[in-house]
Amino acid sequence: MQTIRNLGSFEGEFLLPGDKSITHRAVMLNSAAAGEAVITNALCGEDCVSTCACMRALGAKIDVDGSTMRVRGVERFRAGRELDCGNSGTTMRLLTGLVSGKGIDAVLTGDASLSKRPMERVARPLGLLGANVRATDGHAPVYVSPAELVGREILTDVASAQVKSAILLAGISASGITTVEEPTKSRDHTERMLSAMGAKVSVEGNRVSVEKSELSSLDVDVPADISSASYFMALGALKGKTLCKNVGVNPTRTGILRAFDKMGVRYSVLNKRSSGGEEMADILVEKSPLCGVELGGDDIPSMIDELPLIALMLAFADGESRIRDAKELKVKESDRIKTTAEMINRLGGECIPTDDGFIIRGKKQLLGGTVDSFMDHRIAMSAAVGLLASVKGGQILRPECCAISFPNFFQMLGVGTK
Ligand code: S3P
Repeated sequence: MQTIRNLGSFEGEFLLPGDKSITHRAVMLNSAAAGEAVITNALCGEDCVSTCACMRALGAKIDVDGSTMRVRGVERFRAGRELDCGNSGTTMRLLTGLVSGKGIDAVLTGDASLSKRPMERVARPLGLLGANVRATDGHAPVYVSPAELVGREILTDVASAQVKSAILLAGISASGITTVEEPTKSRDHTERMLSAMGAKVSVEGNRVSVEKSELSSLDVDVPADISSASYFMALGALKGKTLCKNVGVNPTRTGILRAFDKMGVRYSVLNKRSSGGEEMADILVEKSPLCGVELGGDDIPSMIDELPLIALMLAFADGESRIRDAKELKVKESDRIKTTAEMINRLGGECIPTDDGFIIRGKKQLLGGTVDSFMDHRIAMSAAVGLLASVKGGQILRPECCAISFPNFFQMLGVGTK
Protein backbone atom coordinates (compact mmCIF):
# COMPACT_ATOMS: atom_id res chain seq x y z
CA MET A 1 0.00 0.00 0.00
CA GLN A 2 1.24 3.51 -0.76
CA THR A 3 0.15 6.40 1.46
CA ILE A 4 -0.01 9.80 -0.20
CA ARG A 5 -0.58 13.04 1.68
CA ASN A 6 -2.11 16.06 0.04
CA LEU A 7 0.26 18.82 -1.00
CA GLY A 8 0.26 22.57 -0.55
CA SER A 9 1.99 23.01 -3.88
CA PHE A 10 4.07 20.99 -6.32
CA GLU A 11 6.96 22.57 -8.20
CA GLY A 12 10.10 21.28 -9.87
CA GLU A 13 12.11 20.28 -12.90
CA PHE A 14 11.90 16.63 -13.96
CA LEU A 15 13.87 14.35 -16.25
CA LEU A 16 11.49 11.48 -16.92
CA PRO A 17 12.40 7.93 -17.98
CA GLY A 18 12.68 7.00 -21.66
CA ASP A 19 9.70 6.41 -23.92
CA LYS A 20 8.26 2.91 -23.58
CA SER A 21 7.01 2.60 -27.17
CA ILE A 22 10.32 3.75 -28.64
CA THR A 23 12.40 1.55 -26.31
CA HIS A 24 10.38 -1.57 -27.30
CA ARG A 25 10.92 -0.82 -30.96
CA ALA A 26 14.61 0.06 -30.61
CA VAL A 27 15.27 -3.27 -28.85
CA MET A 28 13.17 -5.41 -31.19
CA LEU A 29 14.28 -3.90 -34.47
CA ASN A 30 17.97 -3.78 -33.52
CA SER A 31 17.70 -7.44 -32.48
CA ALA A 32 16.59 -8.21 -36.03
CA ALA A 33 19.26 -5.97 -37.65
CA ALA A 34 22.81 -6.62 -38.76
CA GLY A 35 25.36 -5.06 -36.38
CA GLU A 36 25.42 -3.57 -32.93
CA ALA A 37 23.50 -0.56 -31.63
CA VAL A 38 23.53 1.51 -28.47
CA ILE A 39 20.24 2.70 -27.03
CA THR A 40 20.58 5.55 -24.54
CA ASN A 41 17.95 6.76 -22.06
CA ALA A 42 16.20 3.43 -22.66
CA LEU A 43 13.29 2.61 -20.37
CA CYS A 44 14.07 -0.32 -18.09
CA GLY A 45 10.50 -0.76 -16.85
CA GLU A 46 9.06 -4.27 -16.62
CA ASP A 47 7.43 -4.18 -20.07
CA CYS A 48 10.73 -3.36 -21.79
CA VAL A 49 12.51 -5.96 -19.64
CA SER A 50 10.01 -8.48 -21.10
CA THR A 51 10.93 -7.37 -24.62
CA CYS A 52 14.66 -7.76 -23.85
CA ALA A 53 14.05 -11.28 -22.47
CA CYS A 54 12.11 -12.31 -25.59
CA MET A 55 14.76 -10.96 -27.94
CA ARG A 56 17.50 -12.74 -25.99
CA ALA A 57 15.48 -15.96 -26.26
CA LEU A 58 15.46 -15.41 -30.02
CA GLY A 59 19.27 -15.11 -30.03
CA ALA A 60 20.02 -11.39 -29.75
CA LYS A 61 22.72 -10.24 -27.31
CA ILE A 62 21.52 -7.43 -25.06
CA ASP A 63 23.58 -5.85 -22.28
CA VAL A 64 21.91 -3.38 -19.97
CA ASP A 65 23.89 -0.86 -17.93
CA GLY A 66 21.55 1.62 -16.19
CA SER A 67 19.53 3.20 -18.95
CA THR A 68 22.00 2.23 -21.69
CA MET A 69 21.35 -0.91 -23.70
CA ARG A 70 23.78 -2.47 -26.16
CA VAL A 71 21.99 -4.69 -28.67
CA ARG A 72 23.68 -7.07 -31.13
CA GLY A 73 21.21 -8.38 -33.69
CA VAL A 74 21.01 -11.87 -35.20
CA GLU A 75 20.60 -12.90 -38.80
CA ARG A 76 18.33 -15.84 -37.97
CA PHE A 77 16.10 -16.04 -34.92
CA ARG A 78 16.28 -19.22 -32.80
CA ALA A 79 13.30 -21.52 -33.36
CA GLY A 80 10.99 -23.24 -30.89
CA ARG A 81 11.17 -20.72 -28.05
CA GLU A 82 8.56 -19.69 -25.55
CA LEU A 83 8.49 -15.89 -25.59
CA ASP A 84 7.13 -14.64 -22.26
CA CYS A 85 5.72 -11.16 -22.89
CA GLY A 86 4.72 -10.61 -19.23
CA ASN A 87 2.16 -7.80 -18.99
CA SER A 88 3.17 -6.16 -22.27
CA GLY A 89 0.65 -5.96 -25.12
CA THR A 90 3.18 -4.08 -27.26
CA THR A 91 5.71 -6.91 -26.89
CA MET A 92 3.20 -9.62 -27.78
CA ARG A 93 1.58 -7.88 -30.74
CA LEU A 94 4.72 -6.44 -32.36
CA LEU A 95 6.72 -9.61 -31.82
CA THR A 96 3.99 -11.80 -33.31
CA GLY A 97 4.27 -9.74 -36.50
CA LEU A 98 8.08 -9.70 -36.47
CA VAL A 99 8.54 -13.47 -36.03
CA SER A 100 5.68 -14.48 -38.35
CA GLY A 101 7.83 -14.09 -41.47
CA LYS A 102 11.11 -15.35 -40.01
CA GLY A 103 10.60 -19.05 -40.80
CA ILE A 104 10.47 -20.23 -37.19
CA ASP A 105 8.07 -21.73 -34.66
CA ALA A 106 7.44 -19.70 -31.53
CA VAL A 107 4.88 -19.48 -28.77
CA LEU A 108 4.09 -16.13 -27.15
CA THR A 109 2.73 -16.19 -23.62
CA GLY A 110 1.74 -13.52 -21.10
CA ASP A 111 0.52 -12.91 -17.56
CA ALA A 112 -3.14 -13.17 -16.48
CA SER A 113 -4.01 -9.63 -17.64
CA LEU A 114 -2.28 -9.94 -21.03
CA SER A 115 -3.90 -13.35 -21.56
CA LYS A 116 -7.32 -11.66 -21.48
CA ARG A 117 -6.47 -9.04 -24.12
CA PRO A 118 -7.54 -9.48 -27.76
CA MET A 119 -4.93 -11.04 -30.06
CA GLU A 120 -7.19 -11.91 -32.98
CA ARG A 121 -6.74 -8.28 -34.04
CA VAL A 122 -3.16 -9.22 -35.05
CA ALA A 123 -3.66 -12.92 -35.93
CA ARG A 124 -6.32 -12.11 -38.54
CA PRO A 125 -4.47 -9.46 -40.60
CA LEU A 126 -1.21 -11.44 -40.37
CA GLY A 127 -3.15 -14.43 -41.72
CA LEU A 128 -4.14 -12.28 -44.71
CA LEU A 129 -0.42 -11.93 -45.48
CA GLY A 130 -0.15 -15.74 -45.38
CA ALA A 131 1.25 -15.98 -41.86
CA ASN A 132 0.64 -19.03 -39.75
CA VAL A 133 -0.49 -17.42 -36.49
CA ARG A 134 -3.00 -19.00 -34.13
CA ALA A 135 -4.38 -17.30 -31.04
CA THR A 136 -6.06 -19.40 -28.34
CA ASP A 137 -9.75 -18.43 -28.46
CA GLY A 138 -8.56 -15.06 -29.67
CA HIS A 139 -6.02 -14.68 -26.85
CA ALA A 140 -2.57 -15.73 -25.69
CA PRO A 141 -0.86 -18.14 -25.96
CA VAL A 142 -0.22 -17.18 -29.57
CA TYR A 143 1.40 -19.87 -31.74
CA VAL A 144 3.49 -18.91 -34.78
CA SER A 145 4.77 -21.41 -37.39
CA PRO A 146 6.89 -20.87 -40.51
CA ALA A 147 5.16 -19.41 -43.59
CA GLU A 148 5.98 -17.50 -46.79
CA LEU A 149 4.41 -14.06 -46.50
CA VAL A 150 3.02 -12.11 -49.45
CA GLY A 151 2.44 -8.36 -49.19
CA ARG A 152 -1.03 -6.92 -49.75
CA GLU A 153 -3.23 -4.05 -48.65
CA ILE A 154 -4.92 -4.31 -45.27
CA LEU A 155 -7.54 -1.95 -43.86
CA THR A 156 -7.73 -2.11 -40.08
CA ASP A 157 -10.98 -1.35 -38.29
CA VAL A 158 -9.25 0.05 -35.21
CA ALA A 159 -6.64 2.81 -34.89
CA SER A 160 -4.01 0.76 -33.06
CA ALA A 161 -0.26 1.27 -33.39
CA GLN A 162 0.24 -2.26 -32.10
CA VAL A 163 -1.85 -3.77 -34.89
CA LYS A 164 -0.34 -1.47 -37.54
CA SER A 165 3.18 -2.26 -36.31
CA ALA A 166 2.58 -6.03 -36.27
CA ILE A 167 1.57 -5.84 -39.94
CA LEU A 168 4.53 -3.63 -40.90
CA LEU A 169 7.01 -5.85 -39.05
CA ALA A 170 5.64 -8.87 -40.90
CA GLY A 171 5.75 -6.77 -44.08
CA ILE A 172 9.55 -6.44 -43.96
CA SER A 173 9.72 -10.24 -44.51
CA ALA A 174 6.90 -10.41 -47.12
CA SER A 175 7.36 -10.37 -50.88
CA GLY A 176 5.98 -7.31 -52.66
CA ILE A 177 4.45 -4.36 -50.87
CA THR A 178 2.51 -4.48 -47.61
CA THR A 179 0.17 -1.56 -46.97
CA VAL A 180 -1.80 -0.79 -43.80
CA GLU A 181 -4.55 1.78 -43.77
CA GLU A 182 -6.09 2.66 -40.42
CA PRO A 183 -9.25 4.68 -39.68
CA THR A 184 -7.29 7.32 -37.74
CA LYS A 185 -3.55 7.74 -37.52
CA SER A 186 -2.04 6.00 -34.47
CA ARG A 187 1.46 6.58 -33.07
CA ASP A 188 4.01 6.26 -35.86
CA HIS A 189 7.28 5.27 -34.12
CA THR A 190 7.52 1.98 -36.02
CA GLU A 191 7.42 3.49 -39.48
CA ARG A 192 9.86 6.23 -38.46
CA MET A 193 12.34 3.74 -37.01
CA LEU A 194 12.02 1.24 -39.88
CA SER A 195 12.77 4.02 -42.31
CA ALA A 196 15.79 5.20 -40.27
CA MET A 197 17.07 1.58 -40.32
CA GLY A 198 16.99 1.45 -44.11
CA ALA A 199 13.63 -0.22 -44.76
CA LYS A 200 11.66 0.98 -47.77
CA VAL A 201 8.73 2.75 -46.14
CA SER A 202 6.26 5.25 -47.55
CA VAL A 203 3.59 7.15 -45.65
CA GLU A 204 0.58 8.96 -47.03
CA GLY A 205 -1.84 10.18 -44.36
CA ASN A 206 -3.24 7.11 -42.56
CA ARG A 207 -1.65 4.71 -45.09
CA VAL A 208 1.79 3.18 -44.55
CA SER A 209 3.54 0.85 -47.00
CA VAL A 210 6.66 -1.23 -46.51
CA GLU A 211 8.64 -3.50 -48.81
CA LYS A 212 10.74 -6.55 -48.04
CA SER A 213 13.83 -5.06 -46.38
CA GLU A 214 17.01 -5.86 -44.47
CA LEU A 215 17.50 -3.63 -41.44
CA SER A 216 20.74 -1.93 -40.42
CA SER A 217 21.37 -1.34 -36.74
CA LEU A 218 20.56 2.13 -35.44
CA ASP A 219 21.74 3.96 -32.32
CA VAL A 220 18.72 5.50 -30.61
CA ASP A 221 18.67 8.25 -27.98
CA VAL A 222 15.22 7.74 -26.50
CA PRO A 223 13.26 10.90 -25.57
CA ALA A 224 11.49 11.03 -22.21
CA ASP A 225 8.04 9.44 -22.34
CA ILE A 226 5.23 12.00 -22.62
CA SER A 227 2.94 9.43 -20.99
CA SER A 228 5.20 9.38 -17.90
CA ALA A 229 5.66 13.16 -18.04
CA SER A 230 1.89 13.66 -18.12
CA TYR A 231 1.54 12.94 -14.36
CA PHE A 232 4.04 15.71 -13.59
CA MET A 233 2.41 18.02 -16.16
CA ALA A 234 -0.95 17.43 -14.46
CA LEU A 235 0.55 18.26 -11.04
CA GLY A 236 1.87 21.52 -12.50
CA ALA A 237 -1.63 22.40 -13.69
CA LEU A 238 -3.34 21.40 -10.44
CA LYS A 239 -0.76 22.40 -7.82
CA GLY A 240 1.97 24.78 -8.97
CA LYS A 241 4.54 24.68 -11.74
CA THR A 242 6.50 21.85 -13.40
CA LEU A 243 9.10 21.67 -16.14
CA CYS A 244 9.51 18.27 -17.84
CA LYS A 245 12.73 18.07 -19.86
CA ASN A 246 13.52 16.29 -23.15
CA VAL A 247 9.98 14.98 -23.63
CA GLY A 248 9.06 13.22 -26.89
CA VAL A 249 6.57 15.45 -28.70
CA ASN A 250 5.89 13.38 -31.80
CA PRO A 251 2.47 14.76 -32.91
CA THR A 252 0.93 11.27 -32.80
CA ARG A 253 1.53 11.36 -29.02
CA THR A 254 0.67 14.96 -28.04
CA GLY A 255 -3.12 14.72 -27.86
CA ILE A 256 -2.84 15.65 -24.18
CA LEU A 257 -1.55 19.10 -25.17
CA ARG A 258 -4.55 19.59 -27.46
CA ALA A 259 -6.77 18.52 -24.55
CA PHE A 260 -4.90 21.03 -22.33
CA ASP A 261 -5.70 23.81 -24.86
CA LYS A 262 -9.42 23.09 -24.46
CA MET A 263 -9.28 22.61 -20.67
CA GLY A 264 -7.54 25.95 -20.12
CA VAL A 265 -4.20 24.53 -18.91
CA ARG A 266 -1.42 27.12 -19.19
CA TYR A 267 1.65 25.46 -20.71
CA SER A 268 4.57 26.19 -23.04
CA VAL A 269 6.53 23.86 -25.31
CA LEU A 270 10.13 25.11 -25.16
CA ASN A 271 13.37 24.33 -26.89
CA LYS A 272 11.79 22.09 -29.56
CA ARG A 273 14.36 20.00 -31.42
CA SER A 274 14.76 16.80 -33.35
CA SER A 275 16.71 13.75 -32.24
CA GLY A 276 17.08 10.57 -34.31
CA GLY A 277 13.87 11.04 -36.29
CA GLU A 278 11.70 11.97 -33.27
CA GLU A 279 10.87 15.46 -31.96
CA MET A 280 11.56 16.42 -28.34
CA ALA A 281 11.02 19.53 -26.20
CA ASP A 282 10.75 20.80 -22.63
CA ILE A 283 7.19 21.27 -21.37
CA LEU A 284 6.40 23.91 -18.74
CA VAL A 285 2.98 23.72 -17.08
CA GLU A 286 1.59 26.24 -14.61
CA LYS A 287 -1.33 26.18 -12.19
CA SER A 288 -4.53 26.85 -14.09
CA PRO A 289 -8.25 26.91 -13.40
CA LEU A 290 -9.69 24.04 -15.49
CA CYS A 291 -12.97 24.06 -17.38
CA GLY A 292 -15.18 21.18 -18.52
CA VAL A 293 -14.63 20.02 -22.13
CA GLU A 294 -15.77 17.59 -24.82
CA LEU A 295 -13.07 15.28 -26.18
CA GLY A 296 -13.46 12.70 -28.92
CA GLY A 297 -12.90 11.89 -32.59
CA ASP A 298 -9.57 11.68 -34.36
CA ASP A 299 -7.54 13.08 -31.46
CA ILE A 300 -8.32 10.15 -29.14
CA PRO A 301 -5.56 7.73 -30.33
CA SER A 302 -2.92 10.43 -29.66
CA MET A 303 -3.98 10.66 -25.98
CA ILE A 304 -5.19 7.09 -25.42
CA ASP A 305 -2.79 6.27 -22.55
CA GLU A 306 -3.36 9.67 -20.93
CA LEU A 307 -7.18 9.43 -20.81
CA PRO A 308 -7.38 8.09 -17.21
CA LEU A 309 -5.28 11.08 -16.11
CA ILE A 310 -7.19 13.59 -18.26
CA ALA A 311 -10.47 12.28 -16.83
CA LEU A 312 -9.01 12.69 -13.32
CA MET A 313 -7.95 16.27 -14.09
CA LEU A 314 -11.45 17.00 -15.38
CA ALA A 315 -12.83 15.86 -12.03
CA PHE A 316 -11.02 18.97 -10.65
CA ALA A 317 -12.53 21.22 -13.35
CA ASP A 318 -15.41 23.64 -13.15
CA GLY A 319 -18.24 22.12 -15.20
CA GLU A 320 -19.20 18.89 -16.90
CA SER A 321 -16.97 17.02 -19.38
CA ARG A 322 -17.63 14.25 -21.86
CA ILE A 323 -15.03 11.91 -23.39
CA ARG A 324 -16.25 9.92 -26.41
CA ASP A 325 -14.82 7.50 -29.00
CA ALA A 326 -12.52 5.83 -26.49
CA LYS A 327 -13.86 2.25 -26.55
CA GLU A 328 -10.27 1.01 -26.89
CA LEU A 329 -9.82 1.80 -23.19
CA LYS A 330 -11.79 -1.37 -22.46
CA VAL A 331 -8.98 -3.60 -23.77
CA LYS A 332 -5.96 -2.05 -22.04
CA GLU A 333 -4.15 -3.47 -18.98
CA SER A 334 -7.54 -3.16 -17.22
CA ASP A 335 -10.94 -2.10 -18.54
CA ARG A 336 -9.96 1.55 -18.16
CA ILE A 337 -13.50 2.85 -18.67
CA LYS A 338 -14.54 0.98 -15.55
CA THR A 339 -11.34 1.37 -13.53
CA THR A 340 -10.87 5.10 -14.28
CA ALA A 341 -14.45 5.84 -13.19
CA GLU A 342 -14.00 3.76 -10.05
CA MET A 343 -10.71 5.51 -9.21
CA ILE A 344 -12.25 9.00 -9.61
CA ASN A 345 -15.38 8.08 -7.64
CA ARG A 346 -13.30 6.59 -4.82
CA LEU A 347 -11.46 9.90 -4.56
CA GLY A 348 -14.77 11.69 -4.10
CA GLY A 349 -15.34 12.76 -7.72
CA GLU A 350 -18.26 12.03 -10.02
CA CYS A 351 -17.41 10.04 -13.14
CA ILE A 352 -20.05 8.06 -15.01
CA PRO A 353 -18.70 5.35 -17.34
CA THR A 354 -20.36 5.21 -20.79
CA ASP A 355 -20.03 2.73 -23.63
CA ASP A 356 -17.17 4.68 -25.23
CA GLY A 357 -15.81 6.96 -22.51
CA PHE A 358 -17.00 9.00 -19.54
CA ILE A 359 -19.16 11.84 -18.30
CA ILE A 360 -17.28 13.71 -15.57
CA ARG A 361 -19.00 16.22 -13.32
CA GLY A 362 -16.17 18.51 -12.23
CA LYS A 363 -16.20 19.49 -8.54
CA LYS A 364 -13.09 21.72 -8.43
CA GLN A 365 -11.79 19.64 -5.51
CA LEU A 366 -11.69 15.98 -4.45
CA LEU A 367 -11.67 14.74 -0.88
CA GLY A 368 -9.25 11.77 -1.29
CA GLY A 369 -9.61 8.20 -0.02
CA THR A 370 -8.43 4.65 -0.68
CA VAL A 371 -8.07 3.54 -4.32
CA ASP A 372 -7.15 0.20 -5.86
CA SER A 373 -4.74 0.24 -8.81
CA PHE A 374 -6.50 -2.79 -10.35
CA MET A 375 -2.87 -3.74 -11.11
CA ASP A 376 -2.90 -1.16 -13.92
CA HIS A 377 0.08 1.23 -13.88
CA ARG A 378 -1.80 4.13 -15.48
CA ILE A 379 -4.63 3.91 -12.93
CA ALA A 380 -2.13 3.81 -10.02
CA MET A 381 -0.19 6.86 -11.28
CA SER A 382 -3.36 8.86 -12.05
CA ALA A 383 -4.63 8.05 -8.55
CA ALA A 384 -1.35 9.33 -7.08
CA VAL A 385 -1.88 12.68 -8.83
CA GLY A 386 -5.47 12.78 -7.58
CA LEU A 387 -4.39 12.09 -3.98
CA LEU A 388 -1.59 14.69 -4.00
CA ALA A 389 -4.10 17.27 -5.22
CA SER A 390 -6.92 16.15 -2.89
CA VAL A 391 -8.08 17.66 0.39
CA LYS A 392 -6.97 14.85 2.71
CA GLY A 393 -4.82 12.43 0.67
CA GLY A 394 -5.21 8.67 1.09
CA GLN A 395 -3.85 5.30 -0.05
CA ILE A 396 -3.21 3.35 -3.22
CA LEU A 397 -3.60 -0.41 -2.94
CA ARG A 398 -1.26 -2.57 -5.06
CA PRO A 399 0.94 0.38 -6.17
CA GLU A 400 3.81 -1.85 -7.35
CA CYS A 401 2.35 -2.06 -10.88
CA CYS A 402 3.85 1.40 -11.61
CA ALA A 403 7.09 -0.48 -12.37
CA ILE A 404 5.55 -1.60 -15.67
CA SER A 405 6.33 1.78 -17.23
CA PHE A 406 7.87 3.96 -14.48
CA PRO A 407 9.97 2.04 -11.89
CA ASN A 408 10.82 4.99 -9.60
CA PHE A 409 7.58 6.92 -9.96
CA PHE A 410 6.89 7.39 -6.24
CA GLN A 411 10.49 8.41 -5.47
CA MET A 412 10.36 11.02 -8.24
CA LEU A 413 7.06 12.31 -6.87
CA GLY A 414 8.85 12.72 -3.57
CA VAL A 415 6.51 10.45 -1.61
CA GLY A 416 8.93 7.51 -1.18
CA THR A 417 7.60 3.92 -1.04
CA LYS A 418 5.86 2.39 1.91
C1 S3P B 1 1.43 1.34 -27.95
C2 S3P B 1 0.25 1.62 -28.57
C3 S3P B 1 -1.00 1.92 -27.86
C4 S3P B 1 -0.77 2.22 -26.39
C5 S3P B 1 0.22 1.29 -25.75
C6 S3P B 1 1.55 1.32 -26.48
C7 S3P B 1 2.61 1.03 -28.78
O1 S3P B 1 -1.86 0.79 -27.96
O2 S3P B 1 -1.99 2.17 -25.67
O3 S3P B 1 0.43 1.67 -24.40
O4 S3P B 1 3.75 1.10 -28.27
O5 S3P B 1 2.43 0.73 -29.96
P1 S3P B 1 -2.77 0.55 -29.27
O6 S3P B 1 -1.89 0.77 -30.40
O7 S3P B 1 -3.27 -0.85 -29.19
O8 S3P B 1 -3.89 1.55 -29.12
